[in-house]
Amino acid sequence: MTRPAAAHPLEAFAFADQAFAADVIDGLSRSPKSLSPRYFYDALGSDLFERITQLPEYYLTLAEASILKARAAEIAHGVPPGGVLLEFGSGSSRKTEFLLDALPQLAAYVAADVSETALDDARRRLATLYPSLDIRPIVADFSHPIECPPDLAERPRIGFFPGSTIGNLLPADVIRLLLVMGRSLGSNSRLIVGVDIKKDAPRLVAAYNDSAGVTAAFNLNLLTRINRELGGSFDLTAFQHRALYNAQEGRIEMHLVSLKDLSVKAVGRQFHFRAGESIHTENSYKYAVEEFQGLAISAGWIPRRVWLDEDRLFSLHELIAP
Ligand SMILES: C[S@@+](CC[C@H](N)C(=O)[O-])C[C@H]1O[C@@H](n2cnc3c(N)ncnc32)[C@H](O)[C@@H]1O
Repeated sequence: MTRPAAAHPLEAFAFADQAFAADVIDGLSRSPKSLSPRYFYDALGSDLFERITQLPEYYLTLAEASILKARAAEIAHGVPPGGVLLEFGSGSSRKTEFLLDALPQLAAYVAADVSETALDDARRRLATLYPSLDIRPIVADFSHPIECPPDLAERPRIGFFPGSTIGNLLPADVIRLLLVMGRSLGSNSRLIVGVDIKKDAPRLVAAYNDSAGVTAAFNLNLLTRINRELGGSFDLTAFQHRALYNAQEGRIEMHLVSLKDLSVKAVGRQFHFRAGESIHTENSYKYAVEEFQGLAISAGWIPRRVWLDEDRLFSLHELIAP
């Protein structure tokens, strides 16, 4: 059945798609053009991200997993019986297993993510591994306070935000997000955050431009998603994945670069690209330990411990709510 013609481009889309549609209109109308990385994570995007975490160039996952493996007992110490582990942007929840192994006293594990398929897959796997664990997946945007299920609302919480997802935000937005997470977790809580560390540019760029082309497929999938969900007409062969290190800003940038002058339809509008013009699709900020602690302090958190892997590639920060 075809949808009736709509007066406004956004009216043609289901309510759930409208934020995506509005952000695409806004992002492609800007100069330079940009899109939010949160839209990478449809079912295929979540699968491709899992493949990225297994790439030899993507040191982040191995480094963070090695810290969690070594420090899980220290992190778990002090979580009271009946506490709740609340994870933001949980994805596959694979690294969470190190904490779950060390936290038999948990009342529940609340996993919050925008990707329903990632949450479903993780719930199925964890239910087999931890049959007595109360697992509560929530489809939610972590940039707004997460409402825990009412029966868990009064329980003490420990927050977990791994994967360097915080690096996707501009530093000013990190402060805002940490404030919101404080509200999601409540007073006397703790937050464990995985943060990638500044290092040499070739190593950073290789992590976001792997030789097998998985990150390129992940980036280009955003255009496939716009074509499928928002009536887009992107020709994927006319765009190329590019990753670069912007040393001044201390961030990796991912772009989709148009290889020629072209016009594309999306959300019922036309968008024009010059040859070489790009859509900026992701930032991944890298922080020295003190830089990140400074942002946390600005958001009202007290940095306590910080753990690094053996090669000092990645950091795991423990923040305490005052
Ligand atoms: C870089 S991946 C990290 C996944 C996992 N935490 C890990 O460490 O492997 C980012 C995850 O955050 C989710 N995500 C991105 N933006 C989000 C948002 N605004 N609210 C909730 N989840 C979000 C994505 O769906 C994805 O699963």
